[in-house]
Amino acid sequence: MRKRITKAIFPVAGLGTRFLPATKSIPKEILTLVDRPLIQYAIDEARAAGIKEFIFVTSRGKSALEDYFDSAPELEKALRRRKKRDLLEILKQTDMDSGAIAYVRQKEPLGLGHAVWCARRLIGEEPFAVVLPDDVIASDRPCLGEMIEAHAGIGGCMLATMLVDREKVPNYGILDVAEEKGALVRARGIVEKPSIEAAPSRHAVIGRYILTPSVLRSLGRIRRGAGGEVQLTDAIQQEIARGQPVHGFRFEGQRYDCGSKAGYLQATVAFALSRPELRDEFAGFLHEILAMPHAAE
Ligand code: UTP
Repeated sequence: MRKRITKAIFPVAGLGTRFLPATKSIPKEILTLVDRPLIQYAIDEARAAGIKEFIFVTSRGKSALEDYFDSAPELEKALRRRKKRDLLEILKQTDMDSGAIAYVRQKEPLGLGHAVWCARRLIGEEPFAVVLPDDVIASDRPCLGEMIEAHAGIGGCMLATMLVDREKVPNYGILDVAEEKGALVRARGIVEKPSIEAAPSRHAVIGRYILTPSVLRSLGRIRRGAGGEVQLTDAIQQEIARGQPVHGFRFEGQRYDCGSKAGYLQATVAFALSRPELRDEFAGFLHEILAMPHAAE
């Protein structure tokens, strides 16, 4: 029996430059879809997958994230005084057991691979998950839970993947595919942000990973790759080169790239339309506004 995966790393130390100036003082992960910050969606998905230890890799200026998962005695007292039981219930989403979240610092934004490596001392000798909160996945069956289930049967590394249009491959880590079997795609290689011509497939890696401790050891050794950053992709390629199994997992559901403005706006519309209390009014508004030439001027 493989040991159950109970630890997840949430790398949240990036600069979030695509959302400047907002991200000058607000962490990207605190941006909201309707009324819940991106990090809440990521934590909920991880909790549903059985994760018990949540490791945040943070940086300067991310204290709003720590506060979000802390208790708020004055607010709770005021809500209790006003008998706002429904709001107190909503606040429970942010309630984390003492000690369930650990924060480690990435001193400089040297890339996703480096951020994951920063958590190495909290991982030990067991496979672990990595969740990028800016990839939000709407699905009946939470993506990470499905991956952990599939991983129990095969081990190694597993990366959430989706097919992207040819012109989008330069934005992603792309798998070189050895074999496809149901939801699983066995990789014989992986390349970070290839050109359209050089891309070995259209199977793109998105922000859910199950990794083995040997990836952390590789991350400690590898040099900076594409963009001057320590690339997680390069460490995963080393696993493949060492003959370790690496699979893509073709998840079900709709993924929104909330690290980009277009993806974030699409997610906002989709999540607003999924709320029964907002749907009709919001759909009517969208219909009207599409007919207006300059809606916000
Ligand atoms: P992104 O590539 O989206 O970078 O990182 P970013 O800095 O967040 O945003 P832009 O591109 O400047 O707008 C993907 C994930 O990796 C984390 C980010 O926080 C995000 O969750 N990351 C990235 C780190 O934790 N540290 C890094 O050095 C780089």
